[in-house]
Amino acid sequence: MKFKTTPYHHDLLKDTDRLSVFYEAIEEYNSDCGLAYDLGCGSGILSYFLNEKFDEVVSLEIENKAFQCAEENLSDFKNVQVINSNVLDYEFSKEADLIVCEMLDTALIDEEEIPVLNYAKKFLKRDGKIIPQGIINTVQMVNMERHHVHWDEDATYETLSDEISYSEFDFLDEISPEFKAQIKLKSNKDSTVNGLKITTYTKLNDNIIAGPLPMLNPPLMIPLDEKHVNVNDFIVVEIKYIMGEGIESIESRYL
Ligand SMILES: C[S@@+](CC[C@H](N)C(=O)[O-])C[C@H]1O[C@@H](n2cnc3c(N)ncnc32)[C@H](O)[C@@H]1O
Repeated sequence: MKFKTTPYHHDLLKDTDRLSVFYEAIEEYNSDCGLAYDLGCGSGILSYFLNEKFDEVVSLEIENKAFQCAEENLSDFKNVQVINSNVLDYEFSKEADLIVCEMLDTALIDEEEIPVLNYAKKFLKRDGKIIPQGIINTVQMVNMERHHVHWDEDATYETLSDEISYSEFDFLDEISPEFKAQIKLKSNKDSTVNGLKITTYTKLNDNIIAGPLPMLNPPLMIPLDEKHVNVNDFIVVEIKYIMGEGIESIESRYL
């Protein structure tokens, strides 16, 4: 089947590892009936995976061009309804068995996964499930070339510490978008620290965890003031951000 897409959604479709983990998680979902919501459906690819398993799929997309693509791509499936709406403005009328929401980005800072799920979860059955089911965030101290917040697709940096987990979320829990953590990191070489590298692992379900992929959570580089460290030195840093409010909300400092 040929999918009509926008250039951005075409790049999302080209990341076949991203598609595979979502496909497998939907295949492993233990039911073949009921109602599923696909929140931020884009070109409609995840609704396409969902349509065979569910009696009804409701797919919401805020962007008009992507909505038009999804509507055309899914027009053969009478059990799929595509709606051009911000999820946060949509009046859900039924509780779903499954919510699929791929509004992911590193540490969930720049996209609306958390505000959208906090709202839409009110319309999930008590035993309902969410795909993905959560994330794990890790951090390392680095010496990086560019001194501003950026994603690491083509970044040059040297890692100076082991990767440690600093937060984990289960999307079925109520999650405050305001995040703050104090983190202790141990240098494994003599060098100059001037940043943090954040990596996000996506838990699709109990069996599938996806690391960073080209179109899913490339590591995020956050600057710190320069500080000389010797091997085995500790630094303690505080990072703060608001999930869904963008990378402008990030603050980082030594304690
Ligand atoms: C990362 S894309 C994923 C698209 C598609 N589900 C896929 O997997 O290829 C996220 C999509 O969510 C949409 N989106 C973001 N915020 C939204 C909101 N508040 N309500 C509805 N759609 C939203 C974006 O326009 C984008 O198409």
